[in-house]
Amino acid sequence: MTRIFSGVKPTGHLTLGNYLGAVRRWAEVDQHRAEALFCIVDLHALTVDHDPGRVRRLSRQAATLLLASGLDPEQCTVFVQSHVDEHARLSYLLECVATDGEMRRMIQYKEKAALERKRGGSVRLSLLTYPVLMAADILAYGTDEVPVGDDQTQHVELTRDLAVRFNQRYGHTFVVPRATRPEVAARVMNLQEPTSKMGKSDDVGPGVVYLLDEPETVRKKIMRAVTDSGQDVEYDPEERPGVSNLLEILAACQGSDPATLSGAYTSYGALKKDTADAVVELLGPVQDRHKQLCADPSYVEGVLRDGARRAREMARPTVDSAYEAIGLLAPSAG
Ligand code: AMP
Ligand code: TRP
Repeated sequence: MTRIFSGVKPTGHLTLGNYLGAVRRWAEVDQHRAEALFCIVDLHALTVDHDPGRVRRLSRQAATLLLASGLDPEQCTVFVQSHVDEHARLSYLLECVATDGEMRRMIQYKEKAALERKRGGSVRLSLLTYPVLMAADILAYGTDEVPVGDDQTQHVELTRDLAVRFNQRYGHTFVVPRATRPEVAARVMNLQEPTSKMGKSDDVGPGVVYLLDEPETVRKKIMRAVTDSGQDVEYDPEERPGVSNLLEILAACQGSDPATLSGAYTSYGALKKDTADAVVELLGPVQDRHKQLCADPSYVEGVLRDGARRAREMARPTVDSAYEAIGLLAPSAG
């Protein structure tokens, strides 16, 4: 059976970008057609300046939101990365296969490191090695498919390279995974700055719609979205990023196609209004279910406990065989 693995970082509140680019597909499609694992990748939240209490709160909130979005613990495994030691255990071995040049070429590293330096801060070593830990997340489970938004494609490519290199050097150990992306909304853009990604940790701004935003806030943010000069409602992400982003969001909500949709509009105002309505409608049930789950924290804790147990069992044999293949002496039994 196909194995699917994906994750979300507790570095901020989940956004509409996370939902349309990743989480919704995990819930609606992936968990039903494969053996799927979805992980709150908390170790990845420590790669930039962080507040310990906030990471803990956001991890709990992310888990609750994944369940509220429809991940069903009967259908898939939901767990927290730091509860399963195999990720860090495998990451070190993969550091012995990856090169520093490869790490420094990662776009996300370059962008985030530049930002940290601009703020006058220092760059954590873990920010550089982060894609190796991500590769370990994926390879530990014999993953075939990694459903992610566009920003993660390069990291999944690196994961493939590491898997192939390890297998060539030390014998076949890892399944070589591939990234899968949604047809629409693989890269939802910031509403105020439609040439940058709508990112949860980048800013707490009017350009980011959070899954837990009140309907009025959602409407306000969408109605105030930056559009482009000109009047025509055209789908052209290069020339008209603002309008194209709205078309993309609306199409994703409705299950239609942004280019076709553009023909139905003659004004930006009408497009914004319909997009706002569609997003409010989409998020309503998720927010209701989130409220119910918040009233029952022990349920969420139980799901995470069972999830970690299952995940550990799945990862252990692969990571053990990697330890052996690379030349480490197995501890003697008994
Ligand atoms: P992250 O917020 O970086 O933990 O991302 C979790 C998942 O959401 C990953 O699969 C990302 O590719 C996806 N994602 C994050 N932001 C966006 C966005 N603006 N548009 C589409 N997908 C996104
Ligand atoms: N790096 C991913 C992101 O920023 C999160 C992530 C960590 C992930 N490990 C993963 C995604 C493994 C897919 C598979 O969004």
